[in-house]
Amino acid sequence: MRDIAICFQHDMCNGLTGKASSLKLLPSFLGNPTGREQGQVIAVDFGGTNVRVLLVELAGNGQVNIIDKRSALLKDKNGKYDYTAASASGLELFDFIAGKISEVAPRGGTYPLGHTFSFPCRQHGVNEAVLISWTKEFKTSGVEGRNIGELLQAALKRKGSSHVKSLAIINDTTGTLLSTAYTDTATSIGSICGTGHNTCYLEPCHPLTGQPMIINLESGNFDGIQQTEYDRQLDQASERFGSQRLEKMASGQYLGELVRLIVHKLATDGHINSASDRLGVPYSVSTEDISPVLADESPALDAVANMAARCWGITGLEIGELAAIRAAARLVTKRSARLVAATWAGVLIKIDPMLTRRHTIAVDGSLYEKMPGYKPHLLEAISEIFSQNAKQITIKLSKDGSGIGAAIAAATVCNAKS
Ligand code: BGC
Repeated sequence: MRDIAICFQHDMCNGLTGKASSLKLLPSFLGNPTGREQGQVIAVDFGGTNVRVLLVELAGNGQVNIIDKRSALLKDKNGKYDYTAASASGLELFDFIAGKISEVAPRGGTYPLGHTFSFPCRQHGVNEAVLISWTKEFKTSGVEGRNIGELLQAALKRKGSSHVKSLAIINDTTGTLLSTAYTDTATSIGSICGTGHNTCYLEPCHPLTGQPMIINLESGNFDGIQQTEYDRQLDQASERFGSQRLEKMASGQYLGELVRLIVHKLATDGHINSASDRLGVPYSVSTEDISPVLADESPALDAVANMAARCWGITGLEIGELAAIRAAARLVTKRSARLVAATWAGVLIKIDPMLTRRHTIAVDGSLYEKMPGYKPHLLEAISEIFSQNAKQITIKLSKDGSGIGAAIAAATVCNAKS
């Protein structure tokens, strides 16, 4: 993990000085908030399987109240629509989002809007973000290379909601960092451990401005880690071969598939007795499906047996075979947490090598929040890497942070204008 941390830190320094790097170091044009930002703001959180819209009141003393919220799936469970597929256009996608915003936005007056858009974007200002490329297997047409703020504002106009003004576009990692930093000034890292994975940090002196600035590392693309045969198989069959290598080893989109590939190999080699074809179907087990497997301590490993029957149609497995499946799930999950912790260590080594001050790492996402054992693995890894000094580091859940952070970002812009 220390080697990975050092390699990550080198890649950060390279990216910051314009040298070749697997990290993107995208500027956000935002520093940490003061905690005094205030007003009513609309926040859109878009980046995973659902889009969320919040009407937020920032009280100006670190207090955040959510007045109203809506959530909608981007992919209909009954197959009626799928805004993440190549057959859907950017126009349709943003019309859908603008429709949800219109349901929440009060009429009369103008409303500032902060938009969390959780994909790699090249920013030229806080409200100008051009999508570099989709990740997390999104394929919606006509969005790559386009300015996200403009696409949303045009859709708001079509929906008769021009009184809602997009003022800030941020990455979800930035949102996570901002919402925790609103009350905790020691926050220096924001990270998402969910469907996707990525980290941002507060660069004390950004080369563009000479000021502190939050930088989106797009660390999911980090390529300084040795791939196993399962990682290579998954990568080869993915939408974008060769890209997002760390994300493919660590995020919720892929952990279930890694477990499936390992179990498939065990079955092919005759270690697991399975005549099921479904085991050969990509993504036939999701990361959510492996959650109960990880925690299964029952004598007959019931949760593992249930998962194998439900996802793959495999029944009658012996206890040793079930234990092997659970071991694969545990290994994949533990590796994910340790890789993530190593990259956070890389950031800390870059900004405060001697750990002379306290650092809060703000984290959001389903893996961190819900995956059994994930948090303890992260803590264990951090203390292994930093030993005594690890007490300077706090890892905090930033619940709904990516959305609230968008509200804080928009309020920052608003308050700076007034
Ligand atoms: C995206 C990042 C995002 C992360 C977590 C990745 O796939 O590239 O921009 O922060 O997912 O949502």
